[in-house]
Amino acid sequence: MPGHKVLVIDSGGRGNSIAHAFTRSDLVSHVYVAPGNAGSELMERCSLATKDGNPLKSIKDLLSFARENVDLTFVGPEGYLSDGIINAFQAEGLRAVGPVKEAAILEGSKCYTKDLLQSLGVPVPTFANFSDPKEAGEYVRWFCSSNPEKNLVVKADGLAAGKGSVVCSSLEEALSAVERIMVSPRIFGDAGSKVDIEERMEGRELMFFALSDGKTVLPLQSAMDYKQAFAPEETAAIRNFNKVAGNPNLDNNPNTGGMGGFSPHPWLDEELIEKIMDKIAIPTIRGFKEKTGHDYIGIIYFGLMVTPDREPYVLEVNVRMGDPEAEVILPRLKTDMYLLSEALLDGTLDAMKLVWSRDSCIGICAISGRVVKPLSSGGGEVPGYPGAHFTNMPITGLDKVDNDVLVYHNGTAFSSDAQGGRRLFSTGGRVLTLVARGGTLNEARAKAYENIKRIRFSGMRYRRDIGLSYIQEPLEISGGQK
Ligand code: GLY
Repeated sequence: MPGHKVLVIDSGGRGNSIAHAFTRSDLVSHVYVAPGNAGSELMERCSLATKDGNPLKSIKDLLSFARENVDLTFVGPEGYLSDGIINAFQAEGLRAVGPVKEAAILEGSKCYTKDLLQSLGVPVPTFANFSDPKEAGEYVRWFCSSNPEKNLVVKADGLAAGKGSVVCSSLEEALSAVERIMVSPRIFGDAGSKVDIEERMEGRELMFFALSDGKTVLPLQSAMDYKQAFAPEETAAIRNFNKVAGNPNLDNNPNTGGMGGFSPHPWLDEELIEKIMDKIAIPTIRGFKEKTGHDYIGIIYFGLMVTPDREPYVLEVNVRMGDPEAEVILPRLKTDMYLLSEALLDGTLDAMKLVWSRDSCIGICAISGRVVKPLSSGGGEVPGYPGAHFTNMPITGLDKVDNDVLVYHNGTAFSSDAQGGRRLFSTGGRVLTLVARGGTLNEARAKAYENIKRIRFSGMRYRRDIGLSYIQEPLEISGGQK
């Protein structure tokens, strides 16, 4: 049967998992990924979209590829959405899933979104926005002296690859975060010309996803994501990271795009889903339409803190699937991904029923960690992701991973070795996300940690506590911190 052709725009593990979901559709004959990575070439019925042998990156090239080759395009990352890729595709009558540029502001400006949510009565932590670093510093001093038992989170307003929040544990850390984001060295560049400073809430984080076709809002599934680079008890590693990275806050556990996660979230039951839909997801999408006139079409991601009395507060809104959340949610999706995408575009989401596997999926991200180079190779030390890190490290061991375990690639490429064979190399901070499934989180976790030990590259590191505080019987996990 000649099926449909799909283009997935994404360069990371999220893109691998979205492409993988499309390859499982009986309606799809081929999936192209751009810019993609080596993982996109390893899936059946999937390949990189290229021009003259090079991956496609610009909206112009992606448009012209889509016009000639595919029936539907699915856009993963926020950068393309904020740059108006959906608007450009729509202008040519092409079918592309994702929010338009005007709606991508929900992720593109944290200050705008916090103001909007507050005006809509959506629960958010106490916050204040600043474009003047002096005023921001005065607020930090005032807040900390008025609330000595509380702490703050300082967030860059703009896009910062998911790393733009500094979670602080003291007045000094918060002041330093304001300085480093807004003044010098401006660690997130122009994204930090404004900041959203909010009260650090206690509770459990939960990443909640929903679909919207502009009329119907449907809950997708949830995940837990581990944003901080290190487990909290890895104090020596945290201090060393900051020392090498030149961060004066030696005890600050830096945020990353995500170090691993799992789905479903054990805290999310029907009652909490209903509460999140009624208090957060539906009012946000309806309120945004009322205030701006723009429909929200695509996936929306609410980063939530659920307090011990089970009240959800919005920490952030993103206009896409998360990474690594997509890697642990989408393998559980049984509903046809192509039909679901068509329902989003045709405004027929109300007729869709989402079916999920009851399995737990857990994902562990293998990242490019600290490397000390021997003097014979020039010496030097890099702190590792999310700071400076080495790439081009050969990766081995994927062939030793169990057949029922998935490995989605975040930052990899193939290149030729001296013998003319193909070798896999790292190209980024996050390199691979290994995803295992099981009847319980504990079972999935045991399988994931057993398998990730078989993969190797120089500087490889992963967190060993993914899922740990959510299970009954902790595992002994050896290895990992290489
Ligand atoms: N994992 C967090 C994000 O995708 O923003």
